[in-house]
Amino acid sequence: MIYPIYIYGSPVLRRETKEIESNSDELQQLIADMFETMYAADGVGLAAPQIGKSLRLAVIDTTPLAKDNPELETFKKVMINPEIYEAGEEEVIMEEGCLSLPGINEDVSRPDSIRIRYLDENFVEHDEEYIGYGARVFQHEYDHLFATFFTDRVTPLRKTLIRNKLAGMAKGKFEAHYRTRQTTR
Ligand code: NI
Repeated sequence: MIYPIYIYGSPVLRRETKEIESNSDELQQLIADMFETMYAADGVGLAAPQIGKSLRLAVIDTTPLAKDNPELETFKKVMINPEIYEAGEEEVIMEEGCLSLPGINEDVSRPDSIRIRYLDENFVEHDEEYIGYGARVFQHEYDHLFATFFTDRVTPLRKTLIRNKLAGMAKGKFEAHYRTRQTTR
């Protein structure tokens, strides 16, 4: 099932998420639906709050980008209850976009490498290091689980420049080629 994607301004995107306690048929269905929703919107990552679920769950698949940019690795993951427990000192700037912020792309500075722990779709625990593009996408999705948008991380100058655009978006001024939803509470 393809879910509508919640747009900036919807309170669920700023709500605290809950850890997932156990595997279930419902969880497996939700994971499958999240991949389907992400692919239908041509996204490379989707976090549960973006479909209105306050859960610590995100899916990532960078395959579409790796096809056009061979230097970008293919990176397909389900992340349950992830935790970044270490970040490298070196920061890199990369342009980001988000399905919940259609029409906005901004440079964001983030650590180039991270160490994370998470459970995969089979509830198997992983402890891994990501560098470069994988670390980038992961950190973006991780932020969604903690009520943060990439636009919260841009420079003060860029924040000022996009303020009106964000305010308009929160009031329904945006265009997207996928199903969206916006709520006021
Ligand atoms: Ni996003």
